[in-house]
Amino acid sequence: MNILKKIPVKKKKLLSLIKKYKTPLWLYHAKTIKKQIFKLKKFNIIRFAQKACSNIHILKLMKKYGTKVDAVSLGEIERAIKAGFKKNSNDIIYTSDIIDNETLRKVIEYNIPINIGSIDMIKKIGKKSKNHKIWIRINPGFGHGHNKKTNTGGKNSKHGIWNTKLALDLIKKYKLNLIGLHMHIGSGVDYRHLKKVCNAMIQEAEKINCKLSYISAGGGLTIPYKTSDKEININNYYEIWENARKRISKKLNCKMKLEIEPGRFLVAESGFLISKIESIKEVDKRKFILVNVGFNELIRPTLYGSYHYISILPKDNRKINYLDTFEAIIGGPLCESGDIFTQKKDNSIYTIKIPKVKYGDYIIFHDVGAYGSSMSSNYNSRPLIPEILIKNKKIIQIRRRQTIEEMLSLEI
Ligand code: LLP
Repeated sequence: MNILKKIPVKKKKLLSLIKKYKTPLWLYHAKTIKKQIFKLKKFNIIRFAQKACSNIHILKLMKKYGTKVDAVSLGEIERAIKAGFKKNSNDIIYTSDIIDNETLRKVIEYNIPINIGSIDMIKKIGKKSKNHKIWIRINPGFGHGHNKKTNTGGKNSKHGIWNTKLALDLIKKYKLNLIGLHMHIGSGVDYRHLKKVCNAMIQEAEKINCKLSYISAGGGLTIPYKTSDKEININNYYEIWENARKRISKKLNCKMKLEIEPGRFLVAESGFLISKIESIKEVDKRKFILVNVGFNELIRPTLYGSYHYISILPKDNRKINYLDTFEAIIGGPLCESGDIFTQKKDNSIYTIKIPKVKYGDYIIFHDVGAYGSSMSSNYNSRPLIPEILIKNKKIIQIRRRQTIEEMLSLEI
């Protein structure tokens, strides 16, 4: 058990918060989000990929701290508008590989630029909205991800435009207004790929050979989930992309801005999931600690074998002795064997060292601000849990707990 990762809230405050809002709950720390945004300030535009954490109040924070926003569904567009991002502007970009009729109508009504991921989208928009501002999301033929499921480039990916020449012909035919090129090859930065990605962007821009206003590096910046993980070198990352921007700008003879579109990097470390130990049971000789959150709340370990650091909050005044540990598997309440937080990519489960804990103590999952709450569900008919934001030392409830009645009301 490593004790290096801290929670930015004092124990007493945490316990009083738990008393008031009950567990399980999501907790976010506004200052951490601000700090992460600041690290990217060299980029001309920071566009938050809200799929990582789409609570309206988190979006409001993003707006306040100067980011723009990416939306991948009509729901995300409406969230962004509720949070104060403006229609008829560059505030929101709709990114997708498809566009249904309802979304198309709204995107035209709100005059929102579209980042296009398929030829069919070009035709659909072109027929309805001449001069619409669009980007092309390019699939450069290769990708990278922390898991096969998060790799968004190459032959096995459904994302992006493969045939840029065909796309360009159609864009001209329909008189669409191409303003930018976008490349998101997956989640999890690997510097070995970065130069290759930037070179691919330069080549695509040369092929397109028309004046553009933006290039986007997409998302994918990772964070140190494990205490042994290194932080990524943002300066290095920026320099490589900035060089690409300069080269393209020179080649196309136009002024261009460099965008970045992070999700995880901005919010992951700001989020905590607080759960309560409901059972410490033995199966054969193995110990299972079962908490009151499952993969319906946090699906990353089950879906990708993702690791989340765990810390312990005792329910009383006991001091936790991190040197006196035992091996345990951490699981949730769901009626499904895959509801285990300590599992690898191949779905095999492993034990972690846990200090002596008691029934009723709290287990806190770290770095869950990205793809935590936003990927949660009502599986096993479990209501969505509250989200609490700590901002300027104030505790603000930014989503209340869903009731069972609310959950059932859609069907009644
Ligand atoms: N831009 C586009 C077009 C994307 O598809 C994504 C993520 C991002 C930006 C932000 O990527 P990020 O900076 O957060 O890595 N659920 C997975 C991640 C899937 C991401 C899908 N697209 C996870 O929990 O790791």
